[in-house]
Amino acid sequence: MIRPPPVIGHRGAAGLAPENTLASFRQAAALGAGMVEFDARLSADGVPLVFHDDGLARTTNGVGEVAEMSWAELARLDAGAWFGADFAGEAIPRLDRVLTLCLELGLAVNMEIKPDAGREAETARVCLEAVRGAWPAEAEPPLISSFARSCLEVARDLAPAWPRGMLVETVPPDWRAEAGRLGCEAIHAEHDGLESELVAEITASGLLVMAYTVNDKQRQQDLWEMGVTAVFTDFPYSS
Ligand code: G3P
Ligand code: MG
Repeated sequence: MIRPPPVIGHRGAAGLAPENTLASFRQAAALGAGMVEFDARLSADGVPLVFHDDGLARTTNGVGEVAEMSWAELARLDAGAWFGADFAGEAIPRLDRVLTLCLELGLAVNMEIKPDAGREAETARVCLEAVRGAWPAEAEPPLISSFARSCLEVARDLAPAWPRGMLVETVPPDWRAEAGRLGCEAIHAEHDGLESELVAEITASGLLVMAYTVNDKQRQQDLWEMGVTAVFTDFPYSS
């Protein structure tokens, strides 16, 4: 059974540094976080990288869709200046670079697989292969999550020993059957939809509940008291 720390840095430390950049993971570690979440996806030419949105406009100086650009094109973009002048020059990182940095920093990892429509199996396979190439067998394996059930099926089949989290916005009525089928150890749910009875029912079944994205300290406390194991926050700290 996985034992994540109570506080997980969301996209690194997305409230304090440009999300999903090396600066963001360094910031999370500097704040004492024990674990970070990030979003893994593919470039047009199949390079696994760390980036949240489908489109480039919000968090880079580029335009268009990540899935339509080659890694060579994406690597030239600035993914830091939008957040603040101090971060100008931060790049979109490759997945293997994020993994090695997290290892260097001693950060446990939750890799969320974010596939483009129609590339679910490829995205999962390539991202899992990147983890296999970068992550020492003796280290605590990354927690793999996705909103895409087909990605979790690939993870279950290719890396059965790596723990999985079923990512949902609202906990669906068939959570028990689906988590069982996918061999998940946790349900990662949007925190607004969580209340005591539901959390108690899920945890009584042997699954963990992890809640995103929780930046309010009082709400974090309330969720832990409800039985939620971990909260994803943009402002991580030592816990
Ligand atoms: O993995 C938790 C959370 O990151 C899921 O939502 O949109 O922030 O990737 P999103
Ligand atoms: Mg995410």
